[in-house]
Amino acid sequence: MRAKNKTLPVLVAAIALVIAAAVGYVLPGGSQAMPVRILFNNKGGKVIFSHLTHHRDYQIECARCHHDRPQVQVSDKTGALACGSCHPQDFDKNFASSHADSFPDESYCIRCHHVEYGQLIFNHKEHAEEYADDCRACHHDASIEPEPRKCSDCHKGKELKGVPSMREAGHKKCASCHEDMFAKHLSSCKECHQSVDMTQYKGDYSDCGACHDAHARDLVLPRMNAFHDQCMSCHESLGAGPYGPDACNQCHITR
Ligand code: HEC
Ligand code: HEC
Ligand code: HEC
Ligand code: HEC
Ligand code: HEC
Ligand code: HEC
Ligand code: HEC
Ligand code: HEC
Ligand code: HEC
Ligand code: HEC
Repeated sequence: MRAKNKTLPVLVAAIALVIAAAVGYVLPGGSQAMPVRILFNNKGGKVIFSHLTHHRDYQIECARCHHDRPQVQVSDKTGALACGSCHPQDFDKNFASSHADSFPDESYCIRCHHVEYGQLIFNHKEHAEEYADDCRACHHDASIEPEPRKCSDCHKGKELKGVPSMREAGHKKCASCHEDMFAKHLSSCKECHQSVDMTQYKGDYSDCGACHDAHARDLVLPRMNAFHDQCMSCHESLGAGPYGPDACNQCHITR
C-alpha cells in the first residue's frame, strides 16, 4: 500500500515532465533560454562566444545582433533564431526547397520576401488619348496585332518561342518614353507598381532575381561572412574585441 501511494505522484510527475519536454520540443522557437556561452565547431577552428557577457557586461541589445524580423524586437521573451536559418552555407536548391520549414511562423518570411507588386499603375485612357499620337506607339502593327489587344494574350510569365515575357515586353515598351524612371533603378519601380502589404500577403513569392540583378548570396550574406561581418565590424567600430587579419586566433582556438 505505502509503496503504491508513493509511486503514483512520482509517476504523475514523470508523465508531466515527459509531456512538458515533448511540448517544449514541438513548440517552435518563441522562448528558449538565452544560452550563456556558445561553442561554434567549424572548419576555421572552434570559437567560444561569450553570449551573456556580450549582452550583460558590454550592454549590447539583443536586436543589435538578432535582427530576425524588423517588426519584432528580439528579447528574452521572443527568443531568437540561429543565424544559419537565414545565412546558410549556400543559397542552393536545397535551401530553396527546405528553408521555409526552419521558421517558427510566417512573420519571418518578410525579412527576405520583402516586397511584391500588385496592380500596375497605368492610365490607358490618358495614354491613348493624350500622351501618345497613335495606338501603335504601344500596340504592334497589323502584322502581329490586327486589332489592339491585351499584351498578356501573347506575352506570358516567361519568354516563349522568341516572344518576350510580359515583364520584358512591358518594360521595353514603357521605357521607350519613360527611360528616366528606369534610370533610377530600384527606387523608381513604385512609380508604375503598387506594392502590396506583405503582412497580409498570401500569394507565391517572386524570385529575388525578378527585381534584383544580384543573386541571393550577394543580397543576404552566406553563413561565414554573416558571422565574420557582424562580430568584426562591431569590434572594429568600437576599437574593442578581436578584428582584422591577424586576429583569427583570438576567436578560433586552434586545437
Ligand atoms: C553580440 C551579439 C549578440 C547579442 C547582444 C545577443 N545575442 Fe543571442 N546569439 C548571438 C549569436 C551569434 C548566436 C548564435 C546563433 C547561431 O548559432 O547561429 C546567438 C544565439 C542565441 C539563441 C539561440 C538560438 C538558436 O536557436 O540557436 C538565443 C535564444 C539567443 N541568442 C537569445 C538572445 C537574447 C534574448 C538576447 C538579448 C537578451 C541575445 N541573444 C543577445 C549573438 C548575440
Ligand atoms: C530571419 C532572417 C535572418 C536572421 C535569423 C539573421 N539574419 Fe542577418 N540578415 C538577414 C537579411 C535578409 C539581411 C540582408 C538585408 C539587410 O541588410 O537587412 C541580413 C544581413 C546581415 C548582415 C549584413 C550587415 C547588416 O548588419 O545588415 C550581417 C553581418 C548579418 N546579417 C549577420 C547575422 C547574424 C550574425 C545573425 C545571427 C545572430 C543573423 N544575421 C540573423 C536576415 C537574417
Ligand atoms: C502607352 C501605351 C499604349 C497606348 C498608346 C495604347 N495602348 Fe492599348 N494597351 C496598352 C497596354 C499596356 C494594354 C494592356 C493593359 C492590360 O492588359 O491591362 C493595352 C490594352 C488594350 C486593349 C485591351 C483591353 C482589354 O481589357 O481587353 C485594347 C482594346 C487597347 N489597348 C486599345 C488601344 C487603342 C485603340 C489605342 C489607341 C487609341 C491604344 N490601345 C493605345 C498600352 C497602350
Ligand atoms: C498577338 C500577339 C501579341 C500581342 C497582343 C502583343 N505582342 Fe508584343 N510581341 C509579339 C510577338 C510575336 C513578338 C516577337 C516578334 C517581334 O519581336 O516583333 C513580340 C515582341 C514584343 C516586344 C519586343 C520587340 C519590340 O517590338 O521591341 C515588345 C517590347 C512587345 N512585344 C511589347 C508588347 C506590348 C507592350 C503589347 C501590348 C500593348 C504587346 N506586345 C502585345 C506578340 C504580341
Ligand atoms: C508614347 C510615350 C509613352 C509610353 C510608351 C508610355 N508612356 Fe506613360 N506617360 C507618357 C506621358 C507623356 C506621360 C505624362 C507626362 C509624365 O508624367 O511624364 C506619362 C505618364 C505616366 C505615368 C504618370 C501618371 C500619369 O498617368 O500621369 C505613369 C505611371 C505611366 N506613364 C506609366 C506608363 C506605363 C506603365 C507604360 C507602359 C505600359 C507607359 N507609361 C508608356 C508617355 C508614355
Ligand atoms: C514605366 C513603368 C514601369 C516601371 C518604372 C517599372 N515597371 Fe515593372 N512592369 C511594368 C509593366 C507594364 C509590366 C507588365 C505588366 C504587368 O505584369 O503588370 C511590368 C512587370 C513587372 C514584373 C512582372 C510582374 C508579374 O506579375 O509577372 C516585375 C517583377 C517587375 N515589373 C519589376 C519591376 C522592377 C523591379 C522595377 C524597378 C526597377 C520596375 N518593374 C519598374 C511597368 C513598369
Ligand atoms: C533568408 C532569406 C529568406 C527568408 C527569411 C525566407 N526566404 Fe523563401 N526564399 C529565399 C530565397 C533566396 C529563395 C530562392 C529563390 C530566389 O532566389 O529568389 C526563396 C524561395 C522561396 C520559395 C520558392 C521555392 C522554390 O522551390 O523555388 C518559397 C515558396 C519560399 N521561399 C517561401 C518562404 C516562406 C514561406 C518563408 C517564411 C516561413 C521564407 N520563404 C523565408 C529567401 C528567404
Ligand atoms: C518585387 C520586386 C522585388 C523582389 C521580388 C525582391 N526585392 Fe529586394 N528590393 C526591391 C526594391 C524595390 C528594393 C529597394 C528598396 C526599397 O525601396 O524597398 C529592394 C532592396 C533590397 C535589399 C536592400 C539592399 C539593396 O540591394 O538595395 C535587399 C538586401 C533585398 N532587397 C533582398 C531581397 C531578397 C533576398 C529577395 C528575394 C528573397 C528580394 N529582395 C526580392 C524589390 C524586390
Ligand atoms: C555589437 C558589438 C559586438 C558584436 C556584434 C560582437 N562583439 Fe565581441 N566584443 C564586443 C565588445 C564591446 C567587447 C569587449 C572588448 C573589451 O572589453 O576589451 C568584445 C569582446 C570580444 C572578445 C574578447 C573578450 C571576450 O569577452 O571574450 C571575443 C573573443 C569576442 N568579442 C568575440 C565575438 C564573437 C565571436 C562575435 C560574433 C559571434 C562577437 N564578439 C560579436 C562587442 C561586440
Ligand atoms: C570575432 C571572432 C572571429 C574572428 C576574429 C575570426 N573568426 Fe572565423 N569565424 C568566427 C565565427 C563565429 C564563425 C562561424 C562558426 C560557424 O559557422 O559555426 C567563423 C567561421 C570561420 C570559418 C568556417 C567556415 C565554414 O564554412 O565552416 C573559417 C574558415 C574562418 N572562420 C576563418 C577565419 C580566419 C582565417 C580569420 C582571420 C582572418 C577568422 N576566421 C577570424 C569568428 C571569428
